[in-house]
Amino acid sequence: MISSIRALGSKIPLAKNVRHATYLILGKPGGGKGTISKKILASHEGFVHISTGDILREEVNKGSEIGLKAKGIMESGGLLPDDLMVDLVSTSISSLPSPPKHLLLDGFPRTMPQAVALDAVVPVEHVISLDIPNSVIVERTSDRWLSPSTNRVYSYSYQPPKVHGKCDDTGEDLIQRDDDKPESVLKRLETYDEMTKPLNDYYSEKGILQGFDGETSDVIFKKVTKWLDGH
Ligand code: AP5
Ligand code: MG
Repeated sequence: MISSIRALGSKIPLAKNVRHATYLILGKPGGGKGTISKKILASHEGFVHISTGDILREEVNKGSEIGLKAKGIMESGGLLPDDLMVDLVSTSISSLPSPPKHLLLDGFPRTMPQAVALDAVVPVEHVISLDIPNSVIVERTSDRWLSPSTNRVYSYSYQPPKVHGKCDDTGEDLIQRDDDKPESVLKRLETYDEMTKPLNDYYSEKGILQGFDGETSDVIFKKVTKWLDGH
């Protein structure tokens, strides 16, 4: 087990590619990780955001080999294999045009082996953990629409597009994620409890986890900003 984890970790050439701090954003599916990440990027300089879910959705759209493998797993609410995800994150970071000041990882790590693999090569300084009630999540995900080419997220109750059904930036027809069907969302919440929730204890014991709760991303983001500006 340990050697296979080391083998995973050895594939991530992160340390030299991040100049300052590595932040993780953890939380349930539909819990606002993407929304809060975009707000951090818009208000704080030097962050580069890598969302493994966004990368996988791009691969699915392209019909690549990874995308074909990912499609069914994502739709059913399961997780892709750890070694594939470690390779994917590794490639994304090494292909950044220049080393970011801060790296914000969203959706990775999602299992203990992924967390240990990451630790083996780059120190994680800060973990932003979002806590939203499950009842809010099921409601939100059914209302979530995306721009197919940019992954910009809209919600008719929270951030509606200017023209119904069209992306503000590209004018394309908005689409819904296949894994936002209620049965898929419930399975993703189960997978989260089983595989990802333990990461909260792991980072909490290291003393680097900062928890933020609330029912809306606006309320949570005010708390995140206060904390980001204060440390
Ligand atoms: P991923 O894309 O990471 O999905 P997720 O963790 O399930 O999270 P989401 O992207 O669904 O939600 P979010 O927390 O970003 O919330 P958002 O800001 O959109 O991964 C997808 C799949 O890929 C996984 O299931 C797995 O199969 C695979 N995968 C990815 N990484 C992997 C890994 N490391 N290992 C293995 N497999 C992996 O917000 C949600 C909604 O709320 C939006 O509609 C938004 O508009 C709305 N909203 C936000 N704020 C408010 C507000 N204040 N009021 C009302 N609505 C609001
Ligand atoms: Mg997301």
